[in-house]
Amino acid sequence: MSEPLLTVTGLARSYEMHRGLFGGTSTVRAVDDVSFSIAPGETLGIVGESGSGKSTTGRVVLGLEPPSAGEVLFESRVLPPKGSLEWRRLRTRMQIVFQDPLGALDRRLPVATQVREPLDIHDIGTRAERDERVGELLSSVGLSRSIGARYPHELSGGQRQRAVLARALITRPALLVCDEPVSALDVSIQAQVVNLLCDLQADLGVAMLFISHDLRVVRQISHRIAVMYLGRIVEEGEADDLFAEPVHPYTRALVAAAPLPGRKPTGQAMLQGEPPNPANRPTGCVFHPRCAMAVDRCRSEVPALASLGNGRRAACHLAGQPIDAIPTGSVAVQQEILAK
Ligand SMILES: Nc1ncnc2c1ncn2[C@@H]1O[C@H](COP(=O)(O)OP(=O)(O)OP(=O)(O)O)[C@@H](O)[C@H]1O
Ligand code: SF4
Ligand SMILES: [Mg+2]
Repeated sequence: MSEPLLTVTGLARSYEMHRGLFGGTSTVRAVDDVSFSIAPGETLGIVGESGSGKSTTGRVVLGLEPPSAGEVLFESRVLPPKGSLEWRRLRTRMQIVFQDPLGALDRRLPVATQVREPLDIHDIGTRAERDERVGELLSSVGLSRSIGARYPHELSGGQRQRAVLARALITRPALLVCDEPVSALDVSIQAQVVNLLCDLQADLGVAMLFISHDLRVVRQISHRIAVMYLGRIVEEGEADDLFAEPVHPYTRALVAAAPLPGRKPTGQAMLQGEPPNPANRPTGCVFHPRCAMAVDRCRSEVPALASLGNGRRAACHLAGQPIDAIPTGSVAVQQEILAK
């Protein structure tokens, strides 16, 4: 197997929050002991509810924020500090695409100028080579050269996100972090942009960290998927395996609730309640207040993210047991759930 392009080990990111004038501070652990790797050309999807730490993970991976603990290795080297010359050079190899294409583009500049900008900033190629590359990139994201002369407000939402993609890809990055790249688009346009991302990924061999709360989209685009809950990875595996046989009760609930191709949501094991406040994490397994399978042990012991073979990892005390053998929750824990 080739060396991983990106290796993330024990990553944590906390924020100190002030609680009013005399309330002191509390610590929000947005990301807590997260480890994963991405091979060159591979897409790792990250899914989870709002607030599970997906975007924070993406920002720390790119070095936009420092980790509170742990390490990010890109091409086997520790990320240099944000703003340093080395980091700015490295950023040509690691690009990001956000949810809001209009916010990512400058309204005052034509699209082609903005697509070209990274080449100008990093002084890559001659003027003619840069123009040529802009034309190539616009065409590979499905935009005509004439669209390059227009301003962002003259484009549709889908065209804008294509322009953002062209700009992200123009420096031939090895890694693209996509944070909810299609969430702001109409559903019909979403499918086109996701298909485009799949094609670009296959053609250019760029690796991706693809962040979304939409399981349907993540499944379509990802080779592997990591499921996050309250700042931690609770399950990880090959995309098809994870959907065919989710192990963690949280993954099971997400998969059961998702409208996936070929089947309607079953509605079984639907998630109850909201994720807890990350500044006040439950004891033991942080999922236990919402878990229909919780047993007493779950309230006191943190489950480790253990390997189950075939690249699957899960953080659940009951992982690996046959589903029929799993109790549906102790009376005490069920009462705790109902009381919420
Ligand atoms: N700069 C910050 N200061 C304080 N808390 C933060 C900051 N950034 C993120 N958080 C908190 O960290 C947790 C994780 O946030 P994050 O944005 O990473 O989640 P997410 O999974 O991307 O959610 P969403 O799906 O809503 O985008 C949340 O509780 C959030 O409120
Ligand atoms: S450890 Fe317990 S509470 Fe946590 S997911 Fe597994 S069964 Fe549910
Ligand atoms: Mg986010």
